[in-house]
Amino acid sequence: MTSSLSGRHQDEQERVAVSNEEVVITAPQTADDTRWLITLWQEEWGGETMVSHGQVYGLADLQALVARCGHELVGAATYRIADTGCELMSINATRQGGGIGTKLLAAVEQAALSAGCHRVWLITSNDNLNALRFYQRRKYRMTAVYPGAIDAARQIKPTIPLVGDDGIEIHDEIELEKRLIEKGASV
Ligand SMILES: CC(C)(COP(=O)(O)OP(=O)(O)OC[C@H]1O[C@@H](n2cnc3c(N)ncnc32)[C@H](O)[C@@H]1OP(=O)(O)O)[C@@H](O)C(=O)NCCC(=O)NCCS
Repeated sequence: MTSSLSGRHQDEQERVAVSNEEVVITAPQTADDTRWLITLWQEEWGGETMVSHGQVYGLADLQALVARCGHELVGAATYRIADTGCELMSINATRQGGGIGTKLLAAVEQAALSAGCHRVWLITSNDNLNALRFYQRRKYRMTAVYPGAIDAARQIKPTIPLVGDDGIEIHDEIELEKRLIEKGASV
């Protein structure tokens, strides 16, 4: 994951709590859900691909979850499972600060556990202080920094912005992980 395009305006966004209606997380269910996802990815990630560690992934090829509040879609996450790791590839809440992201992340972790994963990991961009806060508050730990990795990714995906949140230049990937099953523990 890199910085979301709209994230640049995050400071200006009102932190809107989701209404009392329950947020429900499911896999996408209809053609409308799929169309909504494609629009979200275009608007938030500058296209339907994601570059992680130099690998290009089509978001539509990944496993996805959507968050629904009443009839409205209010968030989505995509992830991929390889061996005993689950990489969170994207996560978005259309109304921030209302608990949607927390629910989506918990659902990805549950899916990872069900698939036998020991950990969920992700990359974010150096400017995304909101995401760094969000994940660390949810027990994710920084495991690596890849200086210049997003500059390299930008060669592959030119829509990655040069400047991200808070006017910070985007250059580096930061990797975080949460261990679902501690090393050495029996599964
Ligand atoms: C990162 C992101 C997905 C988090 O989603 P979110 O829905 O805003 O997250 P939450 O609302 O669950 O949690 C944020 C805070 O709101 C608070 N919150 C939760 N429920 C709430 C409610 N009903 N009312 C008010 N605040 C609430 C939480 O306590 C949390 O604070 P904390 O971290 O101190 O615990 C969202 O900010 C986003 O879409 N960012 C842009 C895309 C992006 O950068 N994705 C990550 C790339 S790596």
